[in-house]
Amino acid sequence: MYICLEGIDGGGKSTQVEFLSGWLIDSGFKVKKVVEPTDSEIGLLIRKILTSPDATSSNTQKILGLLFAADRLTLMEKISKYEEENKIVISDRSFYSSLAYQNHQKWVFEINKFAKKPDLVLLLDLDVDVAIERCLEEDEFEKKFFLANVKDNYLDLAQNDKNIFKIINANNGPKKVQSDIKKAVAPFLDVCVSGIE
Ligand code: TYD
Repeated sequence: MYICLEGIDGGGKSTQVEFLSGWLIDSGFKVKKVVEPTDSEIGLLIRKILTSPDATSSNTQKILGLLFAADRLTLMEKISKYEEENKIVISDRSFYSSLAYQNHQKWVFEINKFAKKPDLVLLLDLDVDVAIERCLEEDEFEKKFFLANVKDNYLDLAQNDKNIFKIINANNGPKKVQSDIKKAVAPFLDVCVSGIE
């Protein structure tokens, strides 16, 4: 099982990845966490480009689209291996990030055709104003206009792929976000939901 957390910058994905991983381990599952961009050479190059002033320009977005797709492929064999070992893979981002951030969806889909599709996507949906307050604005992507477009793209993707997307309202407090995540994941893993507040 490959579960992915998605959402705009500042949505608290990494905190919730830790939470979900801890809860699943406590429930008796074997878990492996992965993150995109990775710490491969390609991932390091991506992080460098993300801080450049023209990161959101049309051409740089296409370059990033290709780099993200290549970086993602460095993870795919690992994910398949973890799944064969009956581990639940929890990923901080997936190819859905490229669809939401890089636009040109048809092309992005094509260059990611060898990437695994997550079985479940938890979309942490956060108000853009709150996201901007939480961001350090280190990357060019952490700007209101840009993130508002990304948020809309995510909601469209969720609308078109209702079977695997679960929208979690990330404007709620941490307790509610965590119980919503448990409720979204439980049916996929046959975990009893009755004890979840
Ligand atoms: P991330 O480290 O998840 O940022 P944060 O922890 O601040 O949420 O990802 C770095 C940035 O890369 C983030 O702005 C989203 C962007 N990104 C894309 O534009 N396309 C992609 O395919 C991926 C995986 C990330």
